[in-house]
Amino acid sequence: MTALEIIRHKRDGLAHSAAELEFLARGAATGSIPDYQLAAWLMAVRLRGMDETETHALTMAMAHSGRMLDLSSIPGTKVDKHSTGGVGDKATLVVAPMVAAAGIPVAKLSGRALGHSGGTLDKLEAIPGLRVDLTVDAFVSQVRRIGIAIAGQTADLAPADKTLYALRDTTATVDSVPLIASSVMSKKLAAGADAIVLDVKTGRGAFIDTQAEGEALARLLVAIGARAGRQTVAYVTDMSQPLGRAVGNALEIAEAIETLRGGGPADLRQLSLRLGAEMLRLAGAGDDLAANETRLAEGLRDGQALRKFGELIEAQGGDPRVGDDPGRLPRAPVQRAVSAPRDGVVSAIDALEIGLVSKALGAGRDRKEDPIDVSVGIVLHRKVGDAVRAGEALATVHAARADQFDALRGRVAAAFQIGRDAQPLPLILRRIAQG
Ligand code: URA
Repeated sequence: MTALEIIRHKRDGLAHSAAELEFLARGAATGSIPDYQLAAWLMAVRLRGMDETETHALTMAMAHSGRMLDLSSIPGTKVDKHSTGGVGDKATLVVAPMVAAAGIPVAKLSGRALGHSGGTLDKLEAIPGLRVDLTVDAFVSQVRRIGIAIAGQTADLAPADKTLYALRDTTATVDSVPLIASSVMSKKLAAGADAIVLDVKTGRGAFIDTQAEGEALARLLVAIGARAGRQTVAYVTDMSQPLGRAVGNALEIAEAIETLRGGGPADLRQLSLRLGAEMLRLAGAGDDLAANETRLAEGLRDGQALRKFGELIEAQGGDPRVGDDPGRLPRAPVQRAVSAPRDGVVSAIDALEIGLVSKALGAGRDRKEDPIDVSVGIVLHRKVGDAVRAGEALATVHAARADQFDALRGRVAAAFQIGRDAQPLPLILRRIAQG
């Protein structure tokens, strides 16, 4: 078997055997298949697709490309959470400490920025000193010690995903249902949690456009989880406008801290409480989601969730003082407002365009080795449904240089549609659980 044959099979629309997918995942993990062949295969999959059997086989091969963690030495049901990616989606940074503060161990493997969407690892690295490249032993012992760890794929954990994820980001092959499903679930299965809550984003700012496609992806993810013996629930949620107000790494950390303090934007708080309540349910803390939300909200109010975030930061080498003083986070030197051209009500905010502008400012990558600027991004002052008057700020752009602001301000303004009224956007569209 050769990589060339495998690429040719998919190019010609054939289904892969499990052996072919194992060969590919091993080649991605060890480097024995060069990037250009992996990239060609990714594009063939993006264009030709894969069926459920192939997707399941690829997921298992990617999960087994490294170690499969056994978390059984940590007492209790371990839960994990993952989003399929969106703009301004910092829910993990709220949900994970909030749930851990409620006594449920959270062992989470996260990703970096992908396409126009941000990544939890890049966001966490905006905290001075914080490291996400934990060894497997450090990851497990941290969960045992403080009940929470958030780390990246390593040479040990889902290494095939580490390679494929970075290649997809730079080859326009992110928006593929089988590639998203195998990427997400390989990490989740390798990280060893007993239960998994998934947030499947749909709309302009997501990799999946329609609710129907989102539901299909959600069902696939839940089926893969069930087949692997993990309790899995997926939520399909709206990503037509950015989540919360902040887009960009350090800016999103600051907003997550505000939310952990009991404030923050209503949509981010609502989504975080619901996902967290589901994690509590799966961990056996009670089936009543509303009661679980109340319990988690109490942890936000009394400071426990924020303290847990501080413990996570400290354990991973970061400066825990950012929890009390987000002013310690990197700040972009240029901060300028984009104002509304007329009076009206914001009827849409193009999340994709906001994500792309944030990336153009330096918050994401065009090539996998590119550095990113954690300080840049956009803060929205109006969301869909908000009234605005001509000349009032729609958003503030945080840029490294004034010429970047000048080049991009028009795109930020054009991302806002201002009309006479707006339809409210439901945030949580569907919950899909094992049949
Ligand atoms: N998150 C992942 O880990 N992988 C994807 O492909 C999309 C979101």
